[in-house]
Amino acid sequence: MRTTIQGVKVPSLGFGTFRLAGQTCRDAVLHAMHIGYRHIDTAQMYDNEEFVGEALASSGVPRDEYFLTTKIANGSHAAPSVISSTEQSLRKLGTDYVDLLLIHWPIQTVPLGETLGAMLDLQDQGKVRHIGLSNATSAIVHEAQRHARVFADQIEYHPLLGQDLLCSMAREQDFMITAYSPLAMGKVADYAVMNDIAHDLGVGPTAVALAWLLEQDKVVAIPKATSPDHIAENFAAIDVRLSPEQIAAINGLPKDRRLVNPSFAPDWDR
Ligand SMILES: NC(=O)c1ccc[n+]([C@@H]2O[C@H](COP(=O)([O-])OP(=O)(O)OC[C@H]3O[C@@H](n4cnc5c(N)ncnc54)[C@H](OP(=O)(O)O)[C@@H]3O)[C@@H](O)[C@H]2O)c1
Repeated sequence: MRTTIQGVKVPSLGFGTFRLAGQTCRDAVLHAMHIGYRHIDTAQMYDNEEFVGEALASSGVPRDEYFLTTKIANGSHAAPSVISSTEQSLRKLGTDYVDLLLIHWPIQTVPLGETLGAMLDLQDQGKVRHIGLSNATSAIVHEAQRHARVFADQIEYHPLLGQDLLCSMAREQDFMITAYSPLAMGKVADYAVMNDIAHDLGVGPTAVALAWLLEQDKVVAIPKATSPDHIAENFAAIDVRLSPEQIAAINGLPKDRRLVNPSFAPDWDR
């Protein structure tokens, strides 16, 4: 299952790696690749790029068959640091390029144009295929678009948090919404609506959450899981189809449960 963004086909279901490290990270990423995930999300701040890289190498999957994202750390927004930290990421990941390089958080200690300018240089050198943002509000996406073609905004998005404004912008302007914490860190399973639909479809509530996201145009999702069972259960979401009534029931859940909100977060869209 793929989502077309600016003419590029991106695997709609990715694999998140936040809080995975060492052998646990290698095992989880390798298992994910074995069962068919072809989109992997990491970040300089996760401190796991070398483990992700080792798992990708041992998977034997050719480099051009998977989509790999990393993100620039908050302390590396100045142009020289963008270049040096990304080159270090490539060495750790064992690859010549990442498919997508994001600014992890829009902390504006350095002008956005400077950071994006260095990312464009990396793109010109073939070290980065596409550039984008994470945790960017609609205003920040607009600002970034004055400097570069934004391929993606990776934001918290799940059945318990609405993102109507950014999603409609993404559809109109053809950029990708990558839904992070798409399972609300497991909290989707606390809601009877999710469990009832899951029961009717014979899948788990996490697969229902992912199916709800993936049926939306321009939206991809990157659930994280550690156990082989969870990794497989989530992958099964690509075959789950929700009825209009089931989608409406999930739409009716509370949409204000934001889970990731550090002190340096931007002034979120309402
Ligand atoms: N850009 C950003 O600022 C940002 C912020 C947060 C996250 N992210 C990205 O998004 C990815 C996913 O977000 P997340 O890790 O915060 O949360 P998530 O994917 O919503 O949830 C992960 C949690 O759900 C559990 N889980 C996974 N599959 C399950 C299943 N089938 N049944 C029951 N429980 C299940 C996991 O447990 P186990 O691990 O024990 O299996 C883990 O505790 C991250 O790994 C990262 O790549 C990006």
